[in-house]
Amino acid sequence: MGASPEAETVAIADSRVTIHMAASLDGFIARKDGSVDWLETSDEFADGVTMEPEFVEAFLKTIDCYVMGSRTYETALNFEAKGLGWAYGDKPVFVLSSRELPRSRDTVEFHSGDLAQFVNGRLRPRFGAIWFVGGGVVSGECLRLGLADEVRYSILPILIGDGIRFFEKLDRNIALHLTEVRAYKTGMVALCYEVLRHRGKSERAT
Ligand SMILES: NC(=O)c1ccc[n+]([C@@H]2O[C@H](COP(=O)([O-])OP(=O)(O)OC[C@H]3O[C@@H](n4cnc5c(N)ncnc54)[C@H](OP(=O)(O)O)[C@@H]3O)[C@@H](O)[C@H]2O)c1
Repeated sequence: MGASPEAETVAIADSRVTIHMAASLDGFIARKDGSVDWLETSDEFADGVTMEPEFVEAFLKTIDCYVMGSRTYETALNFEAKGLGWAYGDKPVFVLSSRELPRSRDTVEFHSGDLAQFVNGRLRPRFGAIWFVGGGVVSGECLRLGLADEVRYSILPILIGDGIRFFEKLDRNIALHLTEVRAYKTGMVALCYEVLRHRGKSERAT
């Protein structure tokens, strides 16, 4: 039996869409050719905190599902083929694509079509913590459509000059409220922002 309209309304109000990626200080998530070799940096920040594996494990458990673009999925498949593992555990992974792609495991589902309808109509009633994990095209689309509640941006201590931007093709300003800042021993700085939809809508980028 399906959930009542009231129950779905509660679930939608409780759900949260987060965009999370790591980027260079100059705002790129990958080089133009898609490579992310530069994610491994060797900085040390004495006052930073250590990312304890138990903390990461507990944190990942709070995520209910992942959403990603097809190019990010293809990168994840390549990583797996190289023996680097699958970063999304046994959580559902929704891949946005208009193409036929190989389905690597039962937890992967493909979607094409209206993204707002998919997130608000299908994901929000089912999942609390919905994580968009890239890439730049999908995170830009998610923000343009007003679907994101939160942006988590991990800045790595490196400049790479050119590449795929964290948010591709944004057509307006998006007002944010900084909610968390954490500096790690590795020199990475993790920022968390709440998306202020009401202000963002009326501010046109110049
Ligand atoms: N640094 C990080 O944390 C991080 C995180 C994630 C990814 N990355 C990197 O970013 C790169 C990929 O980013 P990207 O911006 O090029 O691509 P992307 O956002 O991963 O994927 C874009 C593709 O997804 C499909 N798509 C997007 N929106 C859709 C929708 N609403 N419905 C159906 N399909 C949709 C389209 O492809 P088709 O329809 O043609 O399939 C589109 O070209 C990779 O190199 C990856 O390694 C880095």
